Amino acid sequence: MKTTINWGILAPGRIAHKFAHDLKLVAGAKLLAVGSRSHQRALDFAGQYGAPHSFGSYEAMLDCPGLDVVYIASPHVGHFEHTMMCLERGIAVLCEKPFAMNAGQVRQMVNCARANGVFLMEAIWTRFIPAFEEAMRLANEGYVGELKTIRADFGFKADFPPEHRVFNPALGGGALLDVGIYTIFLATWLWGRPERIKATATMSSLGADDSCAMIFEYPGNRLAILDCSLILKTEIEAYIYGETGTLRLHNRFLNTQDVSATFYEKSSEHFHLPLTGHGYYHEILEVNDCLRQGKIESEKLPLDFSLLLMETMDRVRKEAGIVYPTD
Ligand SMILES: NC(=O)c1ccc[n+]([C@@H]2O[C@H](COP(=O)([O-])OP(=O)(O)OC[C@H]3O[C@@H](n4cnc5c(N)ncnc54)[C@H](OP(=O)(O)O)[C@@H]3O)[C@@H](O)[C@H]2O)c1
Repeated sequence: MKTTINWGILAPGRIAHKFAHDLKLVAGAKLLAVGSRSHQRALDFAGQYGAPHSFGSYEAMLDCPGLDVVYIASPHVGHFEHTMMCLERGIAVLCEKPFAMNAGQVRQMVNCARANGVFLMEAIWTRFIPAFEEAMRLANEGYVGELKTIRADFGFKADFPPEHRVFNPALGGGALLDVGIYTIFLATWLWGRPERIKATATMSSLGADDSCAMIFEYPGNRLAILDCSLILKTEIEAYIYGETGTLRLHNRFLNTQDVSATFYEKSSEHFHLPLTGHGYYHEILEVNDCLRQGKIESEKLPLDFSLLLMETMDRVRKEAGIVYPTD
């Protein structure tokens, strides 16, 4: 069994710094190479995190001998192309969320990974956060009774210049794909495909959704009420309401360390489960485990789930009128 898993980081931007920090905490993981559009940026990043190789193009990095897996941290619109570049060379991929711009692209990525027998996973780190896992266990085991409603929000005031990727439709900007995905992830993780979706968005002058509100309907009188924003700071909490109580995933629910259960005024319980590093540590462990076992897919975060997540986001976009040049 391979002891050290050699990682490459493609596109060393903001999130890649946090990821590289956590990678250093994982036993048996090594940052081997960094690829940037600028060799200087790759050099600086490699120097900061102790990577022995740096490259001034993404393609060049993929020829680095010994590379096992690449973490893709480019803007959303790059995910499809950069993932395919790796998979076609037989290199495993952990790709940031959203997995791609639409379900058609995700289907091609999944087909390519399966056809080539290469590992692929979406970097939905929330799935591996210890307190989130505990909340899901409690929810699914009936801790608060039969589940009826989910509420989740993720809004922050994006304090970036107007040309930043989060505002730019050409780079996949907008609240839904950037942060709304986490609220949709929660509902989809618990309940799967919604029967009906209602959604509406407010659009910025640049043509990206700056806020989006959604209601998902499921059989059995169940509802998910979700919202996201790039112009407002919201609580960033999630509530799962059952017939005997409520589970609350405290701020920020996507990487929470605290979950509480209240049983309608009678009693309450609090669970604290700490994160390691920034929280990306946990998804890295899963990728390393899968690669050591020769898996081409994580059973804990299956590719069919990522496809369902993107299909659901496509449905929201259609309902809310959110379109991209890549459509
Ligand atoms: N999981 C999480 O918690 C989390 C948090 C934040 C973001 N994300 C995801 O990670 C991805 C990157 O987000 P980020 O906040 O790190 O973005 P960022 O700071 O803008 O970094 C993206 C990097 O991509 C490269 N890039 C390639 N083409 C580009 C283009 N046309 N314009 C701008 N940059 C380009 C740049 O690196 P080089 O030029 O050096 O190659 C840039 O530094 C997004 O898809 C986002 O959804 C995930």
